[in-house]
Amino acid sequence: MTVRFFNFAAESQDYMAAVRQAIDDTISSGQFILGPKLQAFETAFAEYIGVNHCLGVSNGLDAIRLILKALQIDEHAEVIVPAHTFIASWLPVSDLGAKIIPVEPDDQDYNINPAALEQAITERTKAIMVVHLYGAPANMSAIRAVADRHQLPVIEDAAQAQGAKCEGAMAGSMGLAGAFSFYPTKNLGALGDAGAITTNDQALYSRLLKLRNYGSVVKYQHDMPGLNCRLDEIQAAVLLEKLTYLESKNQQRNQIAGQFLQNIKNPLLRLPQQVSGHVWHQFVVRVTDRQAFMNHLQNQGVESMIHYPVPPHLSGAYQKEYGDSHLPLTEQICQQVVSLPIYPGLSEQEIQQVIAACNSFQEPL
Ligand SMILES: Cc1ncc(COP(=O)(O)O)c(C=O)c1O
Repeated sequence: MTVRFFNFAAESQDYMAAVRQAIDDTISSGQFILGPKLQAFETAFAEYIGVNHCLGVSNGLDAIRLILKALQIDEHAEVIVPAHTFIASWLPVSDLGAKIIPVEPDDQDYNINPAALEQAITERTKAIMVVHLYGAPANMSAIRAVADRHQLPVIEDAAQAQGAKCEGAMAGSMGLAGAFSFYPTKNLGALGDAGAITTNDQALYSRLLKLRNYGSVVKYQHDMPGLNCRLDEIQAAVLLEKLTYLESKNQQRNQIAGQFLQNIKNPLLRLPQQVSGHVWHQFVVRVTDRQAFMNHLQNQGVESMIHYPVPPHLSGAYQKEYGDSHLPLTEQICQQVVSLPIYPGLSEQEIQQVIAACNSFQEPL
């Protein structure tokens, strides 16, 4: 039996009937854009995250782009971003013409290193972006202390961290604004592209409402040049239904992670740090001979993936401008990381198969 890296049928078993019904109801309503399902989801998600406002948007990248645009980030600005992240954290910054200032991660939790972050601040810095990578909350008290000292807004890229907590506060509630992706494989996933922005800032929220809808909140009254980045009614209905399962799904991930952490015992593998409030979007191990390890997993019937094989600064998109950046830890991490299957619906037998495959890996002769 092969343990799949992600198995939608297994993950969706318990909620699929309710989701189909919610889609059906939405179709019958005849309302597909900016309607009651979106409003209901926004209210529910804002309450879940513990913020005053939530806006459903088209996807996670657009969520970040809208926040940066609302903050009037432009070609004169520098934005600090984690060097080790999915490229979507970088793309909206360069799209607005701003300079990306990549900062190395912490070697333990893989999130932005607060000390290195402070050194990267200049008089042109206009915002700090943190990413709660793999579902592990970043060290927000240290990051916020730096941001407060320099009076800079913090944007949380919480695309991988729905439900993650840092000292009791939800990811997406600890900065000026949080950006979420509901890509289908996320802890809270739509059945297509979807995203959201969370904030407590009323003025920012008002700007964002217009920016996501052609610069308008009153039909045919356009107060600013905006975009079309709305979350549609069908995806909102799906997310509203699935939100009720998120806590129990995160608990299942946490339980699987606990089994891995307790039972994977192989000196060749470096296991992830067990940070409190982690929601285990990915379970990422480090290994020196990655190809040999992945071949071994495959031979043992365990699928694996790499998040991410190429850091943004060495990708084709940024190589020319950022290829010479001195980011040795980011590069080392990208050469060593392997993600194991972790999702609700993984059976006990599959969990044991992953553990056994990890434990039987030996250094090739
Ligand atoms: C850290 C991070 N930021 C941003 C995004 C972008 O989200 P989306 O795919 O919804 O545009 C992702 C998506 O995978 C992500 O992992």
